[in-house]
Amino acid sequence: MEFTDAVRRRRMIRSFKDEVLPPGTADRLLRIANRAPSAGFTQGYAFLVLEGDEQEPLWEILYTAAASDHTTADDGAEQVDTLKRAPLVIVPLACKDMYLDRYASPDKGLARDEDVHPVPYWYIDTGFTALLTLLAVVDEGLGAVFFGIGSRAEIDDFRSRYGVPPEWEPIGALAIGYPDPGTDPVPPARPSERKPLSALVHRGRW
Ligand SMILES: Cc1cc2nc3c(=O)[nH]c(=O)nc-3n(C[C@H](O)[C@H](O)[C@H](O)COP(=O)(O)O)c2cc1C
Repeated sequence: MEFTDAVRRRRMIRSFKDEVLPPGTADRLLRIANRAPSAGFTQGYAFLVLEGDEQEPLWEILYTAAASDHTTADDGAEQVDTLKRAPLVIVPLACKDMYLDRYASPDKGLARDEDVHPVPYWYIDTGFTALLTLLAVVDEGLGAVFFGIGSRAEIDDFRSRYGVPPEWEPIGALAIGYPDPGTDPVPPARPSERKPLSALVHRGRW
């Protein structure tokens, strides 16, 4: 598939057919994700792959989040009902400590202190891997949605249920499968059309 086609066709897909994925799908997606750039080539990202019953704790956390005010999936429990048909979930995780270490090394020479990092590269790099995964999903003829896991409490719950070390932070999750356009709920967070470049771009000076 042409790169521009993959970019143009990508949409967040929130509902999936009850169809298994071809063997090796997760590995192919993750090999693309791992082509992401990273600040200082720190590669401070990791992925948790969840298939079948392994996903159950995640859905439980999302139902809990949906039942409270600090909701994650925008449409609440109903959205979790459709998301959970996804045969594959990939959770990208970011590790701030690896960036603090990398940038405190002799060739960078910064203090090992979060305050000297005006921009949290750990989230940026992990986000880059998520975007590459979304594009690879399109290239595979599949669909995916990136969604938040919830509040600090739900992220802690996620860590403890999946045995994730405290220094690793899930930035969200990708539900992946064959799109089921017939039942895809109306995207809740898409009230308007994409902004024109004229509303976004400042040339030479803001
Ligand atoms: C950081 C981030 C968090 C998002 N969280 C959710 C979410 O929790 N639930 C959801 O349905 N969509 C979520 N989305 C998808 C956006 O709603 C979607 O990207 C946006 O409406 C534009 O639609 P498109 O990606 O299909 O072009 C998220 C997207 C991003 C980038």
